[in-house]
Parts: sequence; C-alpha cells; structure tokens
Amino acid sequence: MGNELWIIEQECYDVKDNPKYETIFTLANGYRGFRGWLEFSSYGFNGNFIAGVFDKAEAQVTEIVNTQNPLVFNLYVDDERIDIDRCEIVNFKRYLDMKDGILHTDIEIKTPKGKITKISAKRFVSRKNVHRWGVEYKITPINYSGKIFVENMIDGTVTNGNYHPVDKTKHIRVKETYDLNPGIALEAHTIDQGIRIIEGTIIKVLNDTVLKNRKYGVFGEIVRELLELRVEEGKEYILQKFGATYTSRDTDDNLIDVLENELRNFYKQGLEDEIEAHIKAWQEIWDRIDIEIKGDVQAQLGIRFNIFQLSSSAYDQDDRVSIAAKALHGEGYKGHVFWDTEIFMLPFFIYTQPEIARNLLMYRYNTLDGARKNAKLNGYEGAQFPWESADDGLEVTPKWGMDYDGNLVRIWTGDEEFHINSDIVFSIWEYYRATKDKDFLMNYGMEILLETAKFWISRVEYNIDMDRYEINKVIGPDEFHEHVNNNFYTNYLAKWNIEKTLELAEWLKRENVKVYEDLLKKLDIKEEDFKEWKVVKDKIYIPYSEDGKLIEQFEGYFDLKDIEITEHDENGMPLWPDLQGYKLGQTQLIKQPDVVMLMLLLGDEFDKETRKINYEYYEKRTMHKSSLSPSMYSIMGLTVGDTHNAYKYFMKTILTDLEDNQGNACFGLHAASTGGSWQSVVFGFGGLHVDKEQYLCLNPWIPEHWDELTFNIIWNEAKVKVVVSHNEVRVISTKDFDIKIYDEKFKVYKNKELIYRR
Ligand code: BGC
Repeated sequence: MGNELWIIEQECYDVKDNPKYETIFTLANGYRGFRGWLEFSSYGFNGNFIAGVFDKAEAQVTEIVNTQNPLVFNLYVDDERIDIDRCEIVNFKRYLDMKDGILHTDIEIKTPKGKITKISAKRFVSRKNVHRWGVEYKITPINYSGKIFVENMIDGTVTNGNYHPVDKTKHIRVKETYDLNPGIALEAHTIDQGIRIIEGTIIKVLNDTVLKNRKYGVFGEIVRELLELRVEEGKEYILQKFGATYTSRDTDDNLIDVLENELRNFYKQGLEDEIEAHIKAWQEIWDRIDIEIKGDVQAQLGIRFNIFQLSSSAYDQDDRVSIAAKALHGEGYKGHVFWDTEIFMLPFFIYTQPEIARNLLMYRYNTLDGARKNAKLNGYEGAQFPWESADDGLEVTPKWGMDYDGNLVRIWTGDEEFHINSDIVFSIWEYYRATKDKDFLMNYGMEILLETAKFWISRVEYNIDMDRYEINKVIGPDEFHEHVNNNFYTNYLAKWNIEKTLELAEWLKRENVKVYEDLLKKLDIKEEDFKEWKVVKDKIYIPYSEDGKLIEQFEGYFDLKDIEITEHDENGMPLWPDLQGYKLGQTQLIKQPDVVMLMLLLGDEFDKETRKINYEYYEKRTMHKSSLSPSMYSIMGLTVGDTHNAYKYFMKTILTDLEDNQGNACFGLHAASTGGSWQSVVFGFGGLHVDKEQYLCLNPWIPEHWDELTFNIIWNEAKVKVVVSHNEVRVISTKDFDIKIYDEKFKVYKNKELIYRR
C-alpha cells in the first residue's frame, strides 16, 4: 500500500475552513504546538502554545498562553503581497504527511497585477530536539523575472481569545527584540508569573543565490528583517527558515545566549539533517504505536490521524505538564487538563509508551499540593484534584460560561464533579497493572491514593436513618444533571478508591515497611484510621435497582421525564428531541455514558447481562454531546454484541476532527476522542482487557469488511504484536507471558508466534 494511507489532505481552499484546518494540521512535539496557520493568509486563529506556560492576567481563569508568532513569512512580488485571500488561486493543496510528521503547502498564486508564483513549503516541529522547528520554501516565479521581498517576522502582538471579542486577552509583553544578523529574535514575558519566552529565526538561501539589501526593523511588538531575492522566470529558489524556542521553564541561563547558540548550531548543521533526524524519531514512534487496518481506507487514515496527534501532544522530558483537553492544538477549554487525560488518553501511553504515561501521572503527583489546597478550601481533608487543572493543581474551572442556546450560565463542574479523584487513582492502577512500575507506585502513586482516600472519607455524609454513607450534590460524567445525590459512578468509584488504597497500603507495608511508615507519618495517617476507612467504605451507598441489573444513574433519575431519542442526523447521531417544555435536567436524556462508563472501567465486576441491559437502556438516551461519548459506546457495544452500532460509533470517533462532527474542531484537537479512538480499536475490536486474575485477555472481533487488524502494545516490558483476521489471532512477543484468548489460557513464548485458529 502506498503513501495515501499516511496523508491527510486539504484539496480546496475556503477561507472559512482555515481555523478547522489549523487544528487538523497542527504540528506538535509535546513541548510545543504550532497550529497549522497558513502564513499566506491573514485569516485564522494562529496559535503557538508551549506546554506549561499559563497565565491569568485579565482572563476569567488561568489559561494556556498564545505566545509570539515566529511563523510569519511574507512574500512580496515588488509591492504586491502574496496573499491567498486577495490573489487568484491557480493551484492549492495542503497535506499532512503523518509518517514523517511534515506539513506540506503547495500553492500557485496570481497577484492582481498578474504575477504567478509557485510555492512549495514543508514545515516541521522537531521530534528529535523539541526546541527546534523549521520550514523550507521552494519558490518559483512562473511568468516573471524581478524582485521578491522576503519578510521574516516575529509577531509579539498576539492575543488569546481571538474568536470572540469578549474573550480577547493579552498574556505576554514584549521585553526585548534582537538583531542576530543573520536572524531575529523576540523575548516576551507572561504577565502574572513573568515566564520568559524567546523565539528566534534565521533565513538561509540555498544554491548560489544571495539575499540582498537586508533591512532590520522593530515596529512596536514586532521584529522583522526584510530580504531581497532577485529571481528569474521559471527558476526554483530554495529558502530555509530555521527556528528555535526556549523559555525560562527550560533553563536558568540567559535566554538569548541559549537561543543564539541553538540557532547557530542548527544553522550550521543544516535543515536537512534535522529533518532526517525528525523523520527517524517519528519512525521509532510509529514502530511502537502504529495500527494497521486492512480493508478500510477511511478507518486506516482516521486511526493514524488520531494516534499521530495524540502522540504529538506528549513527551517524556517534562513531568510538570500533562495533556489538555484540546492538547497543544488550540485554546478551547483554556489549555486545561481534565479526566480526559487519565481515562481517555492515558491507556494509549500505558500500552505503547509507558515512560510517557508515567510522566503524565507525575504531573498529578507534582500538583498534589494544589489538590490539597482545594480540599482544605472546600472544608475537606486529603487532596481534591481540580476538575480543570492548569500548572499548580488549583481548581481553575470557570464559574461562568454559555449553554447550548448561548445564554450565560453558572458552571458547577468545578464545584461538584468530584469523580476526577477516583479517575486518577484508577489510572494509576491501570498503569501499574501493565508496567509493574513499583518505584512509581511506592514513591508517588501511593501518596496520591492515600490523599484521595482521605478526601473521600471526609466527603461522604452519614445517613443515620439508613445507616449508610452517601455522596450528595455532585455531577457525574453526565453533565446534563447537576447537584444530584448518590451518583452511581461517583459512589462506586469512591468506594473502589478507598478499597484499592487499603489493599495497596498493605502491599506497601509488605514491600517496604520504611517507605510505608514514613509515608503515613508524612500524611499524618495512623494505622487505626484504616479500620475506620474500611467501615466507611463498606457502608458507601451504591444505588442498585431491585433486580440488581438496570442501575439508576443517581437517586431519582428514573422519576425524570423519559424522552427517547427518535431522530438522527446523516451521521446517525441523535438530534435533540422535543423536550415538551421540560428543562434538560428534568429529563432522562444524558450527555455521555455514566453508568456505562463505570462498567467499562470495572467491567469484571458486572456480568454480561447487566452490562447489556444498561448499555441498551442508556444508549437510547445518550445525546453524545461530548466527543468522549461515542468511543465508549463503541467499546461497550462490542462487549455486549451490538457490533453494528460499535462500528458506527468508532467511525464517528475517529472522524471527530477530520469531519468536524462536533462542529468545534477550530478550538483545538478533541484529545480525549483521539485516546478513545485508540481504545476503540485495541479494547474494542481487539477486545483487550486485564481480568481479575491479572491476565492479559484478548476477545477480538473485526467488522466483516476488514481483512486484518494489527496493533502493538507493551505489556510488562514485553513488546507484543497482535494480528487479528477473520479466522485467526496471532500474537508475537519479545518475552514469555501468559494470555487468555477468548477465555482460554495460553503461554506466549519469546519470539515464537502463537497462532489461535477459530
Ligand atoms: C465533557 C467532559 C470533558 C470536558 C473536556 C465536557 O463537555 O462533558 O467529560 O471532560 O468536556 O473535554
């Protein structure tokens, strides 16, 4: 199969689509993300985000900073700017080569005076050295000879929130501009914390051509150099733009010195070298993450896009940052981190790049002090992780936002969506199960477990009449219903959180009594406390229904108006039914899985019939108003035998951004959905799960029209490749391990393919 299975292409230009394509064509390396801003257009939401650079200033809450834009590159034929929106487009093609991690722009533009110029640009953000990025421009004057002016610029006037006048905020002040001759640099500082950010670029021209009459200038918050290129009709000219970026988060040294040094080395070494190293780094990543779906081109491209962008959003050298809901691809959700990371994205990293998974969990450890402050502020003990998190673990959920009709409403999630605590603990357990990383669990994970358990003990309320502990006034994963009591997901997982903590505390005591004792001392926990924790945990109310099968999402849910979804759009997704005068929260319509979500996380604790009954009930009432939703129904559908809907939900998930089926791709990547895409393939079609006996299990099922599905995982340090076709399952591993395939036990021997024939 050729390259087309690696290419995401935009064939036609429509200025309205710029913001969407900026998200799709974002290039990121975990350290930073450049939205796929088209330098030859003036329209869009350009974005340059550096992980961990947050600021509040005049904004409602702390948000990720849109920093100075160093991608500006204007070309003028004499006095006419090559501006795609004001010139005639002769040819247009932009495409993302996911294999190599390169964004290509191939355009041919005719200026109002009739000068036609062909430009082929290649942009990359290095995966080898996160501080480097570059662009190569091949420029051909098609029907003229003369002068082209090249304007290389760094723009410090950028603001956040350009999509709405109310949200516009400036988070940086330009402190210094530099003439590096060759090259320019601009240093800016964030308003609140004074984080320093420097961007620098140099332009190089190849072959025997020279850039003449250089002019350096500073215009307020903009630094630029203007260069003159003498061109001959029909001849190709190659210009290379070298870029480097540093912040005071990376180094204590003088930023301009660090930057200059980096830029000069980069320049000397050559763009080609860096591109080669970058491609090689991507090859190594693909070796670990790639998924092959034979027989379904759209599914193949879609899954690659999702894992390409998810993988671009993290790297393993900074454990003070995590992945935001919109990753490094846009300002949506203000660059905040949600449960999206632990529950939706983390499994991908746990099973393909566990060192990154560890880093992401370390972010929670490193923000534990903020979580402790949240708990204290709200009158609780232990740690309360924020529903929305930025750089310090303090709660940053905005208090106000817009509802579906554009009305200003109070947002309660930051006050009530407590389940994030247990979600984090669940993911620590999931990470440990797959990696057996004792060092992490002992030295970091356990502290999170104990502090969150302590939180729950202080959060539950004793109902004396019923002799039970309740958790009231919460929001579960389904955010259509606020201030609810005894949400099944929240209560069940809180109980599980305490139970797992008690179990692992015993493990720690056996494993290393000194670490155990020191930790209890540090957290002011006594062994006797555990007895009380156990009593409380056993009495946490879990709202089962009478037959124990269909579970009520929260107390009183079944009394709400039952409005079924009857109509669907062309993608098969629900259309709003007539609410018959009821408010949304007074109906049984839900935003995303809640009971079903819990049954996915703790599948083994519910028999298949229970899962099926709940899936069938809630699926009919789910509006999928969150992109987190379809992938989960896809997986649950597969476990209970609803294969038709499973494929539909899978396709909806992988095309979330590519088809913009939630209508908001312009604000950034639906990062949870990229993780959900991976889970749909591996946990859904691959049927991979870990059972109570800690066996890795496979129960694959693939759609009729797929010929073969191949995925790679890491399981307890073994690199495992799984190939599923209609009549066999093949497993090959770099280490021996035990496996269950369709509930039958096997041993996989190192480097010896296990073939299971159906
Ligand atoms: C969803 C949450 C999610 C958040 C960020 C909301 O619309 O309901 O579950 O965490 O978006 O993606």
